[in-house]
Amino acid sequence: MKSLYRKELLTVQWRRNAVQIIDQTKLPNKLVYLRCTDHREIAKAIKSLVVRGAPAIGICAALALLLVTINSKAKTEKDLKTELERAGGLLISTRPTAVNINWAVKRILQISSSGKNVKEIKRLVKREALTMLNDDILTNKKMGRTGSDLFHDGDVVMTHCNAGSLATSTYGTALGVLRAAREDGKNLKVIATETRPVMQGSRLTAFELMHDDFDVRLISDTAVGYVMANKMIDKVIVGADRILCTGHVYNKIGTYQIAIMAHIHKIPFYVAAPVSTFDLKSSISEITIEDRSPEEITKIKNIFIAPKGINTINPAFDITPPNLITGIITELGLLEPPFQRSIDTIIRRSRRY
Ligand code: MRU
Repeated sequence: MKSLYRKELLTVQWRRNAVQIIDQTKLPNKLVYLRCTDHREIAKAIKSLVVRGAPAIGICAALALLLVTINSKAKTEKDLKTELERAGGLLISTRPTAVNINWAVKRILQISSSGKNVKEIKRLVKREALTMLNDDILTNKKMGRTGSDLFHDGDVVMTHCNAGSLATSTYGTALGVLRAAREDGKNLKVIATETRPVMQGSRLTAFELMHDDFDVRLISDTAVGYVMANKMIDKVIVGADRILCTGHVYNKIGTYQIAIMAHIHKIPFYVAAPVSTFDLKSSISEITIEDRSPEEITKIKNIFIAPKGINTINPAFDITPPNLITGIITELGLLEPPFQRSIDTIIRRSRRY
């Protein structure tokens, strides 16, 4: 595809007191932007996958709270804090699995609690939300630096879902690592899985990588075993929505079976994720896996591809256990097994967590 859009994909931007996001439901056919001036519009956009991907929805949540302060008529700091808490609750309720919305809301509420009056809270929230937006890009580039050395000239790399520019403010986590490797002069080829049922692989990753002139091929999810068995790939890299202290990785449904197949075929399986994706407090039993609408798997557009009334199971995420993971690439460095120990030394003890 000769790209119509040569510029870097800027998924989340702050422009003239509004949040501008790429409407990902329109990709790959149209690159259009949605301008949100109210936090409820952002909550709706997150819920309907207009914007998706763990870091991107975290940043959007922080900017949504900035909009709350801009739109607020509160006269007292108490009223403004109540408005922020309420909006934070709404944002957290949109998507339960990725930890990044909680992380962003907590960070903004924490900073707002140090403000002594309405004006100061507004100033602090603005500074914090915009710092989070800028830090996201720097973090992705640092992760890219950490991960680049793991990839070699000529490698064919499989990725699942979309952990690229479209899942962050820009540059990406897993795809950011591939970008960094390319910037280091390595010629990589990518295999993207289509990622049923919402097709983030075919609609978003294939679009994003072609947009940036990567050599990318699309496969159906069911072809993963075939390409591995036929030695058509060297490495796998994916993103994450939440990583526990044990090294269990929550990511797009289908990640777990790819990790198992990679393990069987002795193919290194890497996860790239920023510190904001780590949840060192919760255990598996406390995390909700988002259960999505049956229509995602029973219909294509408005046509039934399964019998009407069929019962479905449609989880949006699965959990990959640490024994299937070769390394976790973060902005603080590469985490290696045993992950409980490396997470404890590198993530828990860092100032960023
Ligand atoms: O349902 P989505 O599209 O929000 O799921 C996204 C993923 O699973 C990504 O792999 C994950 O958020 C990592 S993005 C850097």
